[in-house]
Amino acid sequence: MDKITGHDTGPSCISCGYSHSRTLNVAPRVRSWLRVDEKLGVGVCSECSEWVAAWDRGVRHATPKSDGEARSEASAPEGLDNLIRQAVLPSLPHVLLEVYDILASEVSSSKQIAALLETDAGLTARALRLGNSAFYGMSRKVSSVSEVMLLIGAFDLWWLLFTTEVKDLFFGIDRQLMDMNRFWKHSLFTACASRVISEKYRLGRPGELFVSGLLHDIGKLLMLQQIPVDYHMVLKRASEGEVLIDVERDLLGYTHEQASAALLEHWKLPASLISAVGEHHLEVDTLSDKLVVAAANRLAHRVLEESEEELPEEVLKIDVNTEINPLYERMVNFVT
Ligand SMILES: [Fe+2]
Ligand SMILES: [Fe+2]
Repeated sequence: MDKITGHDTGPSCISCGYSHSRTLNVAPRVRSWLRVDEKLGVGVCSECSEWVAAWDRGVRHATPKSDGEARSEASAPEGLDNLIRQAVLPSLPHVLLEVYDILASEVSSSKQIAALLETDAGLTARALRLGNSAFYGMSRKVSSVSEVMLLIGAFDLWWLLFTTEVKDLFFGIDRQLMDMNRFWKHSLFTACASRVISEKYRLGRPGELFVSGLLHDIGKLLMLQQIPVDYHMVLKRASEGEVLIDVERDLLGYTHEQASAALLEHWKLPASLISAVGEHHLEVDTLSDKLVVAAANRLAHRVLEESEEELPEEVLKIDVNTEINPLYERMVNFVT
């Protein structure tokens, strides 16, 4: 353990921001560095031991300047390719992806979907649990995937199973890094709003845009899982008022939109679904197929966080209480 010395400049803690030189007069307790990288000027101080695991796990690409600002040019960020190619990426049950293909085809058969789901014991158990959950208030037990599909509908069953699988893949992300409940509420609202905008204005395919809305920010979870220290530094600067995607570009060289799209590509989801995810922070002056998720994302920020997002008239005309909330509230009950 290196003792903090009395140098004028020194590393700052990635968690609490402690820096010996900056806090000398206000923090009389001597802290030591559990981890420190003098070159990068960051470390984990002895008061923040819960960050050691993230530090050890994290591949650090971010390189803060000596004045505390971050830059990307000093040690070149290895970038999105490394995030996707070198990391051990979470994978989804293949059956779920096959079911999506059937649902997306013109001739989807419930029998075929049920048979496929039943080849995976975990998904079958999950489907039965959903079918027998209090929400549906059935007087008798549902005992087969086909019955659950009759009750919930094939598409709704698919996304419920899909969402719970994705949630499991990213289970264990430090609460200090991300409020997961808030993350899923935002994602679910964006999914519902995408479906409503798509149906109301006949833009794109509602089911596809719903899934794009659900997964649009999944790149954030990927980065928190794979490069937690870097992404923590990104989130910290964003929480201080900087624009998130600008900080991502600055520190990492790519955005969470691109990370989301790359993960969906890795999962071999359809290209049309991926393109809506990859550019969900575009300005939305006029609605188009391509901008449904971007508009829904802005609407989610406006409604859930009361932020001042600019949106086209058609989106502002949507009555959130009657057109989006019934679906959203039903989903939140299942997922969060
Ligand atoms: Fe986003
Ligand atoms: Fe978002």
